[in-house]
Amino acid sequence: MKKIVILASGNGSNAENLVDHFHAEDKIRVVAIISNNLHAGVIERAKKCEVPCVAFNTFAAREAGFLRKLIQSFEPDLVVLAGFLAKITEDVIVAYPKAIVNLHPALLPKFGGKGMYGDFVHRAVIASGERESGITIHWVNAQYDAGEIIAQATTEIAPDETPESLAAKIHVLEFEWFPQIITKILYP
Ligand code: GAR
Repeated sequence: MKKIVILASGNGSNAENLVDHFHAEDKIRVVAIISNNLHAGVIERAKKCEVPCVAFNTFAAREAGFLRKLIQSFEPDLVVLAGFLAKITEDVIVAYPKAIVNLHPALLPKFGGKGMYGDFVHRAVIASGERESGITIHWVNAQYDAGEIIAQATTEIAPDETPESLAAKIHVLEFEWFPQIITKILYP
């Protein structure tokens, strides 16, 4: 049995999808969900799924090594970022080489970087006149959204696309592909 820890800052629909997916099998267990937002929707979802959840505030995070020690306490084989908006500190990256994956709601290397998350990404994609968007699953390094790409999946952009309709299409891709790619990483 391989263990994953999920880091999430927001609504947590991907976190819940991963829990549901992996609990139906016996190969991967979500041992904890960690959030840097005390009011994140993901906290309620974790409770509903009966997965241990730790939420911390920025004050706690100022302590050196806080996030690394918290993650290490769950002894994960893989750290999964699912809508986690805080920067992963260097000590965490060093402690987990090729063992932290991020999900990004666009086709990197375009539309990534600091401040590019959620609807900001979808608005930028539509405004730029792109004909397709998609998801990118990539390794995490010290720069935002710049680690080696593991997998991408695409969707077309309709002429009347809105950030909301594009977000819905992106979630469909995320729910389908993220569990599959995580399984491939842990069971190559
Ligand atoms: C997801 O679409 C994910 O790709 C995106 O945030 C959303 C979280 O939704 N991540 C980023 O934008 C990271 N730069 P969720 O909380 O419902 O899973």
